[in-house]
Amino acid sequence: MSAGQAVVADEAVVELHLERWRADADVHELRLLASLREPVLDVGCGPGRILAALHHRGRASLGIDLAPSAVREAAARGGAVLCRSVFDPLPREGHWATALLLDGNIGIGGDPAGLLDRVRSLLRPGGEVVAELEPAGGTRLLHARLVVDGNDEHRFPWATVGVGAWEPLAAAAGYTRIRTERVAGRRFGRAVRA
Ligand SMILES: C[S@@+](CC[C@H](N)C(=O)[O-])C[C@H]1O[C@@H](n2cnc3c(N)ncnc32)[C@H](O)[C@@H]1O
Repeated sequence: MSAGQAVVADEAVVELHLERWRADADVHELRLLASLREPVLDVGCGPGRILAALHHRGRASLGIDLAPSAVREAAARGGAVLCRSVFDPLPREGHWATALLLDGNIGIGGDPAGLLDRVRSLLRPGGEVVAELEPAGGTRLLHARLVVDGNDEHRFPWATVGVGAWEPLAAAAGYTRIRTERVAGRRFGRAVRA
């Protein structure tokens, strides 16, 4: 990864508890979703709370996730969802208006620069990536373990990206109109495919 930022790699494993993402989208998330253009690709949609919010508001959207249990839950809540990695071939490549990397999903693949590059290929020109960031720090490469109802579902490479690392990372991946915003204490990075 080469975004001109210090990158720290370690052996840490963060636990991602699927239960945390079973609640409905909150009022702040709904406001964020209202600002997005369609169609929306929710990358790493988990049990589908964001996807359900989009679907129930009639917004064109698709969720993708590697974990079969997450995909089953997301499908049950409504909305279109595929059990697929973001690095696999996907429908409408090059035509998505928005790609979401919420809840730290900029960490998917353990290579934020590579993920942003892949996401750029999924977006149409002028399409936007929206990524949730850590409030501080640079880029940290680690591993995650998805825990579903107390059981290990699967492990995958993961990363965290601090708000200060967003601009150089997105610029190196070829995005323009790069900005960050704060929504109810959470930090989001937004950037547009040139
Ligand atoms: C932080 S959780 C997602 C929470 C979700 N955004 C929500 O609101 O409910 C991270 C998700 O990324 C998924 N994931 C990990 N690697 C992936 C990949 N390569 N492609 C797609 N999804 C992936 C995991 O299975 C997990 O469900």
